Amino acid sequence: MRQKLVAGNWKMNGSLAENEVLLDGVVAGTREFPGVICCAPYPYLFQMQEKLQGTHVAWGAQNLSQYERGAYTGEVSAAMLKDFGCSYVIIGHSERRAIFGETSMTVAEKFKAAQDAGLVPILCVGETLSEREAGATFAVVGEQLDAVAGFVGVSALEDAVLAYEPVWAIGTGKTATPQQAQDVHRHLRERVALMNSEVAGKVRILYGGSVKSSNAAELFAMPDIDGGLIGGASLVASDFCDICRAAA
Ligand code: PGA
Repeated sequence: MRQKLVAGNWKMNGSLAENEVLLDGVVAGTREFPGVICCAPYPYLFQMQEKLQGTHVAWGAQNLSQYERGAYTGEVSAAMLKDFGCSYVIIGHSERRAIFGETSMTVAEKFKAAQDAGLVPILCVGETLSEREAGATFAVVGEQLDAVAGFVGVSALEDAVLAYEPVWAIGTGKTATPQQAQDVHRHLRERVALMNSEVAGKVRILYGGSVKSSNAAELFAMPDIDGGLIGGASLVASDFCDICRAAA
C-alpha cells in the first residue's frame, strides 16, 4: 500500500499573519492523516519551521536552484531549504516551465540537486489543452518524465513523488475526471515499470488541478492516484483539511 500524500502549493500567496492562521488550522484539522505537506514561498520557510516542527505536518518549497552555491543572484539552493527543515520541494511546476522558461533539462538538474541534498522532489508533469486536443498527452508527460529518469536514473524515482497536473485544469475550476486522471497516472506508472517495476509499484503519483473537497474523494479512490497537489484550496484551512480527510 502506498501511503497517500496531500501537498498544498501555496504559490505566491500568504503573509506572516495569514500563514499563522492557516497553519494552526491545518495542524488541528489533519491529525488523523500523516501525509500532509505545505509548500510555502521562500521567505516563510522560517515560519514553517517554527510552527510545524514537532507536528505531523511536513513542509517544503516550490522551487530551488540547480546550482549548489555561488554567484547566482536571486537563487536559493537545496542546502538552504534543508537549513529551514524542508523535506520536500516542488520541481517543474507548469508555471515554472511556462512563465520562467524551465526546460525538461533544467527540471532534471533541479531534481538531482534536491535529491543530492536529501530533499524529496515533487516532480510535476502535465499537458496543455492544445496538446491534449492533439492527442499528445502521453507523449508530453512521457517526455517530461523520461528527461528526469534519463538524467538521474529510474531508481531515483523511488525516493521522489510525481504529480500529474494537466495545465488546463490548474486554477481553472476544470478538474480532470477521475477516469481522465487515472488514465494518465496509469500511463506514467507503466512507463516507470518499463524501466523498473519495483520502483513503479512504490512511486506516489499525485493528481493536481482544481482539486476541491467536493471532488477529492472520487479522484483519490482511483487505483493509481496516490493523493493530491492542491493550489487554491490549500489556502483555506477548512477546504484543505477536508481534502486531507478524503485521502485518509
Ligand atoms: P489549483 O493548482 O489546485 O489551484 O488548480 C494546483 C497546482 O498548480 O499545483
